[in-house]
Amino acid sequence: MYATAFLDVPPLVAAGGTVRLPGSKSISNRVLLLAALAHGTTTVHDLLDSDDTRVMLDALATLGCGLHRDGGVLRIQGLGGRLGDDVRQRALSLFLGNAGTAMRPLTAALALLGGDFELRGVPRMHERPIGDLVDALVQLGCQVEYLGNPGYPPLRIRPVAASALQLDAPIRVRGDVSSQFLTALLLALPLAAASRAITIDVIGELISKPYIEITLNLLARFGIDVQRDGWSRFVIPAGAQYRSPGDIHVEADASSASYFIALGAIAAGAAGQDGLKIEGVGADSIQGDIRFVEAARQMGAQVSSGPNWLQIERGAWPLRAIDIDANHIPDAAMTLAVMALYADGPSTLRNIASWRVKETDRIDAMAAELRKLGATVEAGPDFIRIDPLPPGHWRRASIHTYDDHRVAMCFSLAAFNPDRLPVRILDPKCVGKTFPDYFEALFSVVQPAEVPVICVDGPTASGKGTLAAEIARRLGYHYLDSGALYRVAGLVMRRAGLEADAAHEARIAELARGLALRFDAGQVLLAGEDITEAIRTEAAGMDASRVSALPAVREALRELQLSFRQLPGLVADGRDMGTVIFPDASLKVYLTASAAHRAERRHKQLISKGISVTLDSLRADLEARDARDSSRSVAPLKPAEDARLLDNSDQSIEQSVDQVLAWWRQVQPFDAR
Ligand code: DC
Repeated sequence: MYATAFLDVPPLVAAGGTVRLPGSKSISNRVLLLAALAHGTTTVHDLLDSDDTRVMLDALATLGCGLHRDGGVLRIQGLGGRLGDDVRQRALSLFLGNAGTAMRPLTAALALLGGDFELRGVPRMHERPIGDLVDALVQLGCQVEYLGNPGYPPLRIRPVAASALQLDAPIRVRGDVSSQFLTALLLALPLAAASRAITIDVIGELISKPYIEITLNLLARFGIDVQRDGWSRFVIPAGAQYRSPGDIHVEADASSASYFIALGAIAAGAAGQDGLKIEGVGADSIQGDIRFVEAARQMGAQVSSGPNWLQIERGAWPLRAIDIDANHIPDAAMTLAVMALYADGPSTLRNIASWRVKETDRIDAMAAELRKLGATVEAGPDFIRIDPLPPGHWRRASIHTYDDHRVAMCFSLAAFNPDRLPVRILDPKCVGKTFPDYFEALFSVVQPAEVPVICVDGPTASGKGTLAAEIARRLGYHYLDSGALYRVAGLVMRRAGLEADAAHEARIAELARGLALRFDAGQVLLAGEDITEAIRTEAAGMDASRVSALPAVREALRELQLSFRQLPGLVADGRDMGTVIFPDASLKVYLTASAAHRAERRHKQLISKGISVTLDSLRADLEARDARDSSRSVAPLKPAEDARLLDNSDQSIEQSVDQVLAWWRQVQPFDAR
């Protein structure tokens, strides 16, 4: 997951390969609650691991539910429809983040289970309506109070005796604001149906019906067959009891699939690959958002599918404009809004009023961000119309994501713009709500026009490594410590009993070419062995300096260094990064500091490691090494012609980092309006 302030997605040109999607949020949270209420133990496979499922799991643990992780599966010991006495007798507070799929069903279930609870979430959760559900529960005789604004969480739930519930008359609930109110009642009311059937009447036109189908489907898996009369009346049979199905598999998220279906429709195929394959969800999915496939086909995508996979290829290009009632695919339809930029005429998405009460007001959010890209957009209470964006009219935009995972994910598709502009996604970690590794998955199947590289060259002990690693961390870029490669080459040479001279050059180069090297969370692993410390000694530095003077060794390490250039970008540190390895780098920094300052820093470093040396000898050493490095014939130490010089003698690390990031903003300016 990218926890950076922003993520710049470079311009993308093609896509191909296979992605495996994480489990569905809607199915995961329903399964968790049903398994918790059920009799018996449920083993859940492929559960989504994200913010929204984590808050549900935390809540269930608080309610006394037994949760056991076993490799990739989760075993849930059901409560059998009853809370333990210790839970019922305590006032408990549950924090449910911004997860509507936790807040709504838990409100209904806890109101019926009995107990004293406070249900809270993030500020946005406190702006998302729940009044219609509370009205239905109060009608029934449950005790639910608003702790803040009437109609919205946070809520206080108090126990009621089962005998006090009025279940004979049909329970009325509105269906035209959020289908989650009906889902919540359907999931929870079997708790009260031991001795009588319970009828729910839906008032108003029910929206997002496919989500109700998921609810009914999963209830059936847990032994409860709800009868329905159209979409207006639902009956939970008398004697209903949740029974664990034993094992249950969570399908991959069909809404998450929409980004990759769109990707396949927008991107040219990658060389040597036939289309984009999506694993984990197929045409037979129980999730309503799978019908996004129909809309994508209408716009031109070629989609084939099997029981658990989809295969996408670009068909019509430009895409065909669409005019669609998107009520049945509210979440996935956001993806259509970005596809519309690549269409042959204006597209209209209708009947999407529910967008206004989701993670953010999605109609306003989509309109504002599409306009930042340069698009002409018209938005109304329940529709959005988007004009295509022709070549030459795109703008470099910094996309605000409103803590809404779907805004972040669908705008990444703007990186396929014909003007080859990068797209900046602010707060990329918001995808953690449903798809923590979304960007990693995206980057694994796309081909960029170019991967940006920032080079930090400079003499030894100038602080290049610290600076480069910090820049990489801030930008979410990969980091190449090229000095470490020479250090490893030196170590391998030493272990093979060779000397860094012309006679052994070919042999050392061969060893360097075959290095089984991995950088992992600050560790350097050579064929699995941790050599992080071994390559940091002064002797290893000497060996590195010697092997790095051998042209064949430099050549051998070239490919390896080039292979670090991967999406979303690279910060490369080492003396010839900007001159030899990445001459086309977007930004080159030549970092230096006076010999006195560098000697002082190195001195501090060594002292802190308990190595005693004198400052004078260190300085003499550095000056000798500078002289040797600058005058040597192979890769002499010199700034690239287009490098920006940064003397950090009197700067803190933070100041140097700020300077380089300021230069980077000049190279990659984003319109932040
Ligand atoms: O930056 P460092 O001290 O880890 O580098 C180890 C040695 O490798 C040093 O003597 C410089 C040399 N080197 C090189 O020649 N070319 C690079 N790109 C990086 C380091």
